[in-house]
Amino acid sequence: MRTAYFLLFLAGIILSCSQKNHQKTNADQKIDSLIELMTLDEKIGQLIQENGGTGHDDKIKNGLVGSILNVPDTKTVNRLQHLAVDSSRLGIPILFARDVIHGFKTIFPIPLGMAATFNPELVKRSAEIASVEAASAGIRWTFSPMTDVCRDPRWGRIAEGFGEDPLVHACMGVAMVKGYQGSDLAKKGSIAACAKHFAAYGAAEGGRDYNTASVPENVLRDIYLPPFKACAEEGVASFMTAFNEINGIPASGNRFLLKQILQKEWNYDGVVVSDWESIPQMQTHGYTSNLKESAFEAFDAGLNMEMNSKAYAEHLPQLIEEGKIELKQLDEAVRRIVKLKYLLGLFDDPYTNPENYPALLSDEHKKIAGQLAVQSIVLLKNSNSILPLDNKTTKIAVVGPLADSPHDQMGTWVFDGNKYDVITPLMSLRECFGEKNVFYAPGMEISRTKTTVGFPDAIKAAKMADCILLFLGEESILSGESHCRADISLPGVQEELINEIAKVNKPVVAVIMAGRPLTFENIMDKLDAVLYAWHPGTMGGPAIADIITGRENPSGKLPVTFPRHVGQIPIYYNHKNTGKPASDETWERLDDIPAEASQLSIGNTSHYLDYGFEPWFPFGFGLSYTSFRYFEIGMGSKEIVLGDSVIISANLENSGKYPGTEVVQLYIRDIAGSRTRPVKELQAFERIHLMPGETRKVRFAIHTNQLGFYNQDMEYVTEPGDFKAWIGGNSNADLEVSFTIK
Ligand code: BGC
Repeated sequence: MRTAYFLLFLAGIILSCSQKNHQKTNADQKIDSLIELMTLDEKIGQLIQENGGTGHDDKIKNGLVGSILNVPDTKTVNRLQHLAVDSSRLGIPILFARDVIHGFKTIFPIPLGMAATFNPELVKRSAEIASVEAASAGIRWTFSPMTDVCRDPRWGRIAEGFGEDPLVHACMGVAMVKGYQGSDLAKKGSIAACAKHFAAYGAAEGGRDYNTASVPENVLRDIYLPPFKACAEEGVASFMTAFNEINGIPASGNRFLLKQILQKEWNYDGVVVSDWESIPQMQTHGYTSNLKESAFEAFDAGLNMEMNSKAYAEHLPQLIEEGKIELKQLDEAVRRIVKLKYLLGLFDDPYTNPENYPALLSDEHKKIAGQLAVQSIVLLKNSNSILPLDNKTTKIAVVGPLADSPHDQMGTWVFDGNKYDVITPLMSLRECFGEKNVFYAPGMEISRTKTTVGFPDAIKAAKMADCILLFLGEESILSGESHCRADISLPGVQEELINEIAKVNKPVVAVIMAGRPLTFENIMDKLDAVLYAWHPGTMGGPAIADIITGRENPSGKLPVTFPRHVGQIPIYYNHKNTGKPASDETWERLDDIPAEASQLSIGNTSHYLDYGFEPWFPFGFGLSYTSFRYFEIGMGSKEIVLGDSVIISANLENSGKYPGTEVVQLYIRDIAGSRTRPVKELQAFERIHLMPGETRKVRFAIHTNQLGFYNQDMEYVTEPGDFKAWIGGNSNADLEVSFTIK
C-alpha cells in the first residue's frame, strides 16, 4: 500500500517537472494530495526535528519524524532514509540538517572574517563549496547564514555573523543563500539555507548571549530586519527563530515577527524552524505556564518545525482536538515542510552517494579558502612599512599561542572540520623562510595561559631573529554561542609577553586571531605592525605567510567598529548625532580636570572623560602595503527627483608602490528627517584593484528608495531634503559632497 502511494506521488512529480511553467501549481497540488492521505500523527510528525542518528527507528517507521539534525555520517543518513522511504506508510523522506556555518570539511574564515573581505562573490563561492561538501554526506539543510546585526563585540556570536552593518549583512547573507541553494534546490550539491536567528538576537543586552533584547520598532525595521528581508527576497528556504525575547515576547512565539512581518509583509512561504528547544524555553522566559501553552504560542505564531524538544509532539494533538489550532493551520505548516523536501528533490533522490560528488577538501576548495582568508585579513598598523618581510634575507622568531594551533584557527561552530587538515602559520612560514631561519617558541601554551614559564624560550628565539612575529588573540572556544566576554582584552599573560618581547628591541609584528574585536590599544606602541586575521580556517597559514612576505597585499576592512575600551560599547559607526556631539576640542580629558572643579552646564558634549568619543578603529578601516588617494568626488546632478538614482563618483589612485585592492565605500547622511537619521550609513561598496600609479573613476548609483527609513507612522519613506555623501576607504571618509532630493 505504502509503495503504491509513493509511486503515485512520484509519478505526479515527474509529470510536473516536465511541465516546468506549471511546476509550482502542480507541485502544490501533489503536496495537497499527499497531505490528504496523511493521518493527524503523520502530519505532526513532519513538524518534528530529532537530534542524532540513534533511537528514532520506530518513530521513523511510523512516519513521526520530519527532519533530523546532526547525523554527519553517510551510512546512517542512508539507513535512516531507507527506513523512512521503504518502511513508513507514505514513504516521505527525511530532511537531514546540520550547522554548516563556514564550511563543512574545508573550513573558511569565520563569517565575521568573511565580512571583512567585502567580497560577496567570494563568500558565495565558499557557500557553494560548503554546500557540495555537506550534500555529499547527505546533509540537505544548513542553519546558515546568521544575519544577526551586532553592535556588541562582547557577544560571542558576533563571530558567526557579518558585523554591525545592515547592508554588509544583507549582501553577505544573500551571497550565502545563493551559494548554498544555487539556481535550483534539486540540483546535485544544493542545500537549503536558513536565515537565523529571527530576530534581534544580536541585540542581547550587555552582549550576554540569550539575553533580553529591547529594540524599538523603527530600529528593528531599519537595522535588524533588512538582512533577513533581503534573504527572504532571495528565496531563502527557511528561517530560524531566535532564543531571545524581544520587547517582552520570546521570538519563538512572536506573532509580530512571524505573522505580521514574515508572513504578511514579506509574504514568506518557506519553513520556520525553532532554535534548539526554544519553544519550551518560552516557559522559562516567563511567557507561558506550561509546555502546552508554549506549543500553542509557537505554533499559532507561525513556527512550523520544532528542533529537538517535544512540545509539538506531545501537545499539538490535543490542541487540535480542542479546536485551539485549526486543521488548516496544521496543513499549512506540513505543506511548507513537505514542499521544501519536494523542491530539494528528496522524493526523487532521497539517498546520498559521496562518490557522485567532487572530493572533499579538493585543491579548488582549498584555493578558495585561501583566497577568502587572504582577503579577510585586515592590516591595522604598519609603522615604517615594516611589512612585507623579505623571506630570502630575514630570520624570524615565531612566538605566541596561536602560531601553531590548528584547532583554534578553524574558529567557532566547526563540527566537521578536522584540525589535521589545517595549515598553520608556523608550517607555512617554515616553508617560506626555510626551517633554519624560523625560531619557534610559543611562549604560552594557550591564549589564556597565566604563567610566564614559556617566556625565556620565546625571548631566546626573539634574540636570534631579525623580526619577531607574535601570534596572539583568542582560542576559538572564547567566542561563539554562549561564549561571551565582559573583558575583551588579550587573555592570559599575552600583554606581558608583548612587553617582554618588545625589550629585545627588534621589530615586532603581531598577528591576531580572534572571533571578535579585541582591545589592546594600551600595548599598541610596542607593536610595529598588526594584522587582524580573525579565525582564518583551514588555509589561514598560507594566507598569513603570503601577506607577511608580500605575495599578497592586505585588502580586508573592518566589518565592525573596534572600541578603545570595552566600556565604550555599544559603539558603532551609524550612530545618531545627539544634540551635543563631541569633538576633539570639546572632549574634556579626565587628567586635565583640576581638583575641586565645579560642575558646568555650558560646553558639555557627549563623550567619556577617560576614553573620549571615538573608536580605536572605525568601521570599514584597513590599510594596504600601497597607499590610495581619493580625489574629485562628483555627482551627475545635485538635485535628484524622488524615484531617480543618486549618481556619485570619485577618483581613486594607487599612489604607492605595490599593486593593491581597495574597498571603496560610499556613505550617505540624510541631514534632517521626521525621525532623526544616523550620522552616516554605508550605501555601497566595491573592491577595486589598481596597479601603482593607476587611477580609476569609481561610480555608484543609489536609487532614492534605498535612502529611506521607517517614519513615525512606521511607513518606509525616503523624505525629500538635504543629504551628504562621502566616498573613501573607511567610515571616517572625508571626501564630501552635498545633494538634495526633491
Ligand atoms: C543555535 C543555532 C543552531 C542550533 C542547532 C542552537 O544552539 O543557536 O544557531 O543552528 O543550535 O545546532
